[in-house]
Amino acid sequence: MKALIASGGRGTRLRPITHTQNKHLIPIANKPILYYAIEAAAEAGIKEIGIVHNADSFEVPDYVGDGSKWGVKITYIPQEVPGGLAQVVMLAEKFVGNDKFIFYLGDNMVVGGIKRFIDEFEKSGCNCFLTLSKVKDPERFGVPEIKNGKIVSVEEKPAHPKSQYAVAGIYLYDSHIFEAVKALKPSSRGELEISDAHQFLIDKKFKVGYTEITGWWKDTGKPVDLLEANRLILDSITPRIDGEVDAQSDVAGKVIIEGGARILNSKVRGPVIIGKNCIIENSYIGPFASIGDRTVVRNSEVEYSIVLRDCKIVDVGLRLEGSILGNDVEIVEATGKPRVHRFMIGDQSRVEVA
Ligand code: DAU
Repeated sequence: MKALIASGGRGTRLRPITHTQNKHLIPIANKPILYYAIEAAAEAGIKEIGIVHNADSFEVPDYVGDGSKWGVKITYIPQEVPGGLAQVVMLAEKFVGNDKFIFYLGDNMVVGGIKRFIDEFEKSGCNCFLTLSKVKDPERFGVPEIKNGKIVSVEEKPAHPKSQYAVAGIYLYDSHIFEAVKALKPSSRGELEISDAHQFLIDKKFKVGYTEITGWWKDTGKPVDLLEANRLILDSITPRIDGEVDAQSDVAGKVIIEGGARILNSKVRGPVIIGKNCIIENSYIGPFASIGDRTVVRNSEVEYSIVLRDCKIVDVGLRLEGSILGNDVEIVEATGKPRVHRFMIGDQSRVEVA
């Protein structure tokens, strides 16, 4: 069993952060999203992982490395243009060979690992095994139609979904999937759709099975999903204080404070993670906040937010909530007269002022 992980695409729904950073490297609880996929594969005993990345950028290979830190071997497979998930699979044919494999979308997160899916797939004797999750908005996903416990069709982002299920971005295949992806034509949005490959296998009477993900699963394609994923991961952290907390500070709940971080005259209410060498001074860091390395929060309040590295949040009068700040972002009090809001904001940013 091998694993194939997709880390390409353009991440348009997460702009402006993705203007300068691959979306799969955005941290959730201070760890890149992609690492959760790699860890899940390594934990399931997989030794060989293929990662598809945008051919025009080596950000992912440079950041992730050869896999030795997880005890796996990573092979990088470049994709010239994001031509769809079926194209991602097609590009991996040489890497996969005749093995069975799990195809994991690098922006998906699931609690509880993937070993159980692999075991069920192996037992089922299926050629293709899909993981399904009940969602409120199936029209955003691939949607199966299920009759008498069998998937009879799969449609990509249908206007009128035939079930409440999303096909999650964790698929298990044998090598028949390559017949399917090679037979496809681009969809109306110009992509080779993985849902069409599944429909091909159904039509050709291959054995397509499924299991339901009963726990938590998230496609982190949109900002609200990132915040929710961050909330969930923080909920399960093991508290650890490696940094300094002064006598005037009050730290409670599940909190990780990394080495070199200093908490001065502040209140921290977990679940929270504060990165290396941060300074939190005269401030409040509330539940479900992830603060990246070297960030400074002074005379300010932050909760339910993701703040990346090297930010400055200083003298901000109103609590930051439901916010995502990229690397090197500064939010500071405007001084002098007249009292104004003064912005220096990149393309496709979003700011809400009170
Ligand atoms: O998350 C589950 C959904 O993922 C499924 O229900 C859909 O059937 C499936 O098509 C997919 O839909 P998305 O609209 O979420 O796909 P997205 O374009 O966001 O790409 C998913 C991941 O694959 C993401 O990590 C980027 C990567 N990717 C995407 C494309 C189109 C690539 O590496 N190469 C690509 O060409």
